[in-house]
Amino acid sequence: MPNQPLKKSLRLKIAFIIGLVSFLSLIFYNFLDNKLLTSLLIVFSGAGGIFLSFVFLKPLEKLFFTLKVISSGNIGTKAEIHSNDELGDISTALNQMMLSVKQVVDKVEEEKGILSSQTSKLNLILSSITDGIIAVDLHKNVLFANTAAQKITGFTLQEMINRPVDQFMKVFSKREEIMAKNYCPLSFSDQPSSPFTSDQSLKLIGKDSKQTDIILSGLPITGNLQSNLGCILVIHDLTKESELEQMKLDFVSMASHELRTPLTSIIGYLKVFIDENRQKITKEELELLEKSLASAQRLYTLVINLLNVNKIERQRLVISPEPIDWSATLTKAVEDLQNQAKQKSIILSLTLPATPLPKVMADTTRITEVVNNLVSNAVNYTKSGGKVTVYTQTTPNEVITTIEDTGMGIPKEAIPRLFNKFFRAASTLDPNYKQGTGLGLYISKSIIDNLKGKIWVESEIGTGSKFHFSLPIATTSDSLQQKGALEMRMQNYLNPPVVH
Ligand SMILES: Nc1ncnc2c1ncn2[C@@H]1O[C@H](COP(=O)(O)OP(=O)(O)OP(=O)(O)O)[C@@H](O)[C@H]1O
Ligand SMILES: [Mg+2]
Repeated sequence: MPNQPLKKSLRLKIAFIIGLVSFLSLIFYNFLDNKLLTSLLIVFSGAGGIFLSFVFLKPLEKLFFTLKVISSGNIGTKAEIHSNDELGDISTALNQMMLSVKQVVDKVEEEKGILSSQTSKLNLILSSITDGIIAVDLHKNVLFANTAAQKITGFTLQEMINRPVDQFMKVFSKREEIMAKNYCPLSFSDQPSSPFTSDQSLKLIGKDSKQTDIILSGLPITGNLQSNLGCILVIHDLTKESELEQMKLDFVSMASHELRTPLTSIIGYLKVFIDENRQKITKEELELLEKSLASAQRLYTLVINLLNVNKIERQRLVISPEPIDWSATLTKAVEDLQNQAKQKSIILSLTLPATPLPKVMADTTRITEVVNNLVSNAVNYTKSGGKVTVYTQTTPNEVITTIEDTGMGIPKEAIPRLFNKFFRAASTLDPNYKQGTGLGLYISKSIIDNLKGKIWVESEIGTGSKFHFSLPIATTSDSLQQKGALEMRMQNYLNPPVVH
């Protein structure tokens, strides 16, 4: 410090003391020939010099001690040096610097506290989510898994963290294993146009081969347009839904079975009673009995339909396709419905081509149910005096059957939902039409789908509807297989396998 006053310079003070002591010693030694006095003066000046140096070096020691305390981490310590020299200045500057450092450290601590409370809040939120959430980095390693994800996979966070997600997420659809790169796109080229969402249940095989039905979604974490930062997986556990669905199916199955037997008896007794007493009872009584019979029959149809839907949903509806003579099956099915059409004064006709129809792959009982449903609908939703026509068309691979009516038609907006369970078009809710359960078309579509055919509709309000369904033509190999199966059955019949 160039403008430093003399008294403030510590170095000058020390140099001045040492110089003074040396100067006095020199004078006494050279000019006063008094060795004792000279020695005393040297000792006295030396002791004085040492004393003064000690006095001036003491603050330095204090400063050094303060620095040591600070370096051990106690940044709140202050250097208590109040001298009016460089040491005093250093001490003041150090105290100011440490004050600034402390303020910065306090702020960092405060922000750390806020961050940690936010992290624990976020963790709390993520662990309260019932869906499993797993975050994966670019190398497919797990960064985070919430409590639900740990529960579903059976692995703890410690087991999963920083390890490849494929080790914990073995996911299968009904047909194949779903690869991690499909549900969790990591490289930009893997990335599908929209986030992955399985619309059907998948099976997740977790720790100790634990199986869970899940719905899986994968969302890439996109940093910029050309890269992903990782991926978030959302796992929805279907166990509870499956259990509830199973309970519902069990209940419907049990209730329908229990209702079917008494209903069959009621219908039987009513029919016999009406037949035997037709001449003995009044017209009003007969009308009441016939209404009761019709209601019982409607209830029976509902029960049978519910049982069929139940079987479809449990995948237990037995459909055994085999090559069948479609002309004969269709003729018989239409004939059986003539009575129903006649009761409503509707002309029901079947037009078959001059050349015989090829055999189709179908299950006679089930396909007859489909024809029943479609022709009954055509009769039900057509006014008396109308027409219902059944005809076929053959293409190289299939036979298309059409049921055409001159009925009320179906509104355009209702068509996409027509084959849904319990759907009934508002236009047919009119009590003048026979009230159905809204299950016939759903069941028919399930049967046709199962037979690898298609079903579709064309309709115009006020003009009528055309319901078409296709059935695959039986090939020679189908017939041979069928023959083989038949021969096997006969063989088993002739030489029954020995049961031990
Ligand atoms: N030929 C048709 N003409 C007009 N509407 C029709 C025709 N066929 C079906 N629909 C409409 O489609 C709905 C669903 O038909 P679906 O056969 O599934 O049920 P439903 O006839 O009401 O009852 P059920 O289960 O007893 O058959 C009907 O309620 C009706 O609104
Ligand atoms: Mg119907």
